[in-house]
Amino acid sequence: MASQAKVTDYRAFPEAQTVIARALAENPEIFPPPVSRWDVGRAELFNEERWEPVFRQMRAEAPINKVEGTIHADYWNVATLKPIVHIESLPEVYSSSYVHGGVTMHEWPKYMSLDYALQSFISMDRPDHTERRHVVAQAFTPSEMVRLTDEVRQRTGALLDALPEGEEFDWVSRVAVRLTTAMLAVIFDFPREDMDLLGFWSDWVGAIEAAKIPEVTQGRTRAKLEMAAYFRDLWEQRRKAGERGDLLSRMIHSDALGHLSEAEFTGTMTTLVTGGNDTTRNTMSGLVHALNLFPDQRDLLERDPSLAAVAVPEAIRWVSPLCHMRRTALADADLFGQEVKAGDKLVLWYISANRDESVFDDPDRFWIERPNARRHVAFGYGIHRCVGARLAELQLRVLIEEMLARRARVHLAGTPQRCGGAFLHGYHKLPVTVERY
Ligand code: HEM
Repeated sequence: MASQAKVTDYRAFPEAQTVIARALAENPEIFPPPVSRWDVGRAELFNEERWEPVFRQMRAEAPINKVEGTIHADYWNVATLKPIVHIESLPEVYSSSYVHGGVTMHEWPKYMSLDYALQSFISMDRPDHTERRHVVAQAFTPSEMVRLTDEVRQRTGALLDALPEGEEFDWVSRVAVRLTTAMLAVIFDFPREDMDLLGFWSDWVGAIEAAKIPEVTQGRTRAKLEMAAYFRDLWEQRRKAGERGDLLSRMIHSDALGHLSEAEFTGTMTTLVTGGNDTTRNTMSGLVHALNLFPDQRDLLERDPSLAAVAVPEAIRWVSPLCHMRRTALADADLFGQEVKAGDKLVLWYISANRDESVFDDPDRFWIERPNARRHVAFGYGIHRCVGARLAELQLRVLIEEMLARRARVHLAGTPQRCGGAFLHGYHKLPVTVERY
């Protein structure tokens, strides 16, 4: 696909992670200590890698429990796989809608207009969700994946070939971010010379706890509006160019997405940019982390490259790049013996369900031949199950295959730095070296 002309100049500074880290350090009063051991919606629990034992205990003692008076108000924790699947199978009872609170545990400030809420099909219920998703899904069909495979392989291979050998570098910025932003650029036919902006915007809108800090909220809102403005320009250019195969073009020429309000346009683009970016990016980093923590599994993969495809769902399960999604009960309900009331917030901890020992043997282990790795709920479940799942899996499989084809072994060269908190289970930095085996 030919790239478009550059739209205009856009801000790519300051980097979200730097501002957020500083703002968090300077505003300790906004984050009082957790109210109880089950008050797990806390960035530090995930960023300091302390979540595993807490959730293990929760699964054993109180897999569905309610906490009250937290920084995210009152919420139910749902920590095991079966009730999460149950909840997501009942979208009429458990809503995703932004009108009721949306899909993250972050509490929408009462003073803030819903115009700024994420008005996107991920945070809509039926029937609004259905047609909008249908348009987007056409960009991720199995035949589209076949069509994209050569491009993904060629681009991934070229990037791996350009990596230095025996010299330390950051896997996140040099590999994971570049591969996933370039993929999004292909999907949208986004101007390649501006594609770093996709990562910049995505970083700003991801961190939910930081949204409690006014300085960060302003930064996020500004990034969202700039992103929307950019896509609006591109939208106009593309509309005039007539119907083509890229996702933006499909949206423009559809009834469901062709005439969105500004708020909904911004929300939809935010979902597509962040959905396609952070998640896959962090799985690419988590994969390298896992291969280093479990060298027997790396040996196995290196000895038998045909295992690349089965390693993908296990990597996604083990990483769980989205810690949770949220639902809001629209009616009183009995949830496996717990009385949920209309209006209650439920936090579906995918990261914990993917370690549910009643489903996965030895769940903390990264085990590439795990027979039921595909039962993971990292992509969610039901009508909102990730529409980009196939594309994520394609990118990850090709990355593994191309690493193996080059006999490139990626060693951790320092401590991974985490980011993202209780929503995005992310890597800020992953220092590595590459050697040929
Ligand atoms: C490993 C990578 C990925 C993970 C773990 C992931 C995870 C998720 C999850 C948990 C949901 C919500 C599911 C629910 O509410 O039940 C979701 C929805 C979504 N994802 Fe992904 N995602 C990934 C990659 C992608 C990619 C590559 C794209 C697109 C380029 C994408 C686009 C979307 C969109 C548009 C939705 C909304 C679907 C709907 O509401 O119908 N995701 N994803």
